Amino acid sequence: MTALVLDGKALAAKLRAEIARQAGALPFTPGLAVVLVGDNPASAVYVRNKERAALGSGIAARTIRFPADTPETRLLAEIAALNADPAIDGILVQMPLPAQIRAMAVIAAIDPEKDVDGFHPLNVGRLALGLAGLVPCTPRAVMRLLDHAGVPLRGARAAVLGRSHIVGRPMAMLLTAADATVTLLHSRSRDLAAECQRAEIVIAATGRAEMVRGAWISPGAVVIDVGINRLGDGRLVGDVAYAECVGHAGAITPVPGGVGPMTIACLLENTLIAAAKLRGR
Ligand code: GUN
Repeated sequence: MTALVLDGKALAAKLRAEIARQAGALPFTPGLAVVLVGDNPASAVYVRNKERAALGSGIAARTIRFPADTPETRLLAEIAALNADPAIDGILVQMPLPAQIRAMAVIAAIDPEKDVDGFHPLNVGRLALGLAGLVPCTPRAVMRLLDHAGVPLRGARAAVLGRSHIVGRPMAMLLTAADATVTLLHSRSRDLAAECQRAEIVIAATGRAEMVRGAWISPGAVVIDVGINRLGDGRLVGDVAYAECVGHAGAITPVPGGVGPMTIACLLENTLIAAAKLRGR
């Protein structure tokens, strides 16, 4: 069996075109502020991609760059200014932050209605309770890919690998809300292979290059790879050993060109949702 390859790049292009159409119909231009502290090269690439995608979808993107030694108080002052700025509908602070800055203090300072990452405790609580709010972009991207591929979720056994606040935990909540039976696996879990073999849907978000092996995937399972890892030889790979898994899976996302482009499209969608609510339409 060879898996259906889920083309996140093509689906993201369609979603971005739809966002551009909706943004163009508004009597104002939605504004997204992206804050980058320091010079982490991966973060710099992500931020540039977000900025470019926003501009191409009729969203005004403003990237604010700070040096790596910026004090937390300076960053909090910037967040306060963005919270008060009527031209800004979405605020994203790129993670990770330098050690002298407490990420949670910064996240908690963002106006929850402008929190397009969905990381603020209020939005995390809303998601846990099934209330309307801003939902983290990567898990939403995965849900959209599953929906587009027509993967049935009700009663399905889903294994989520990784319990990060950005991906694994909100992913487990979204799949649970969609009536899947979710197993949340992490670095202290026993028998990862056996847990994955039981799953009809495997979502890998561990940050460990090619950790999910072909033998972990039951025939026909849907494999979603959230990872982006740069190997020593320069190759970009996911958290899934793609060449091994593609022969077992029913459907699989590639890296690059799978979840990544959809995550950015979902960020733009969150910005549009925030703008519509903030500006009362
Ligand atoms: N770093 C890695 N993923 C993300 C994300 O989704 N949002 C932010 N702000 N930083 C990240």
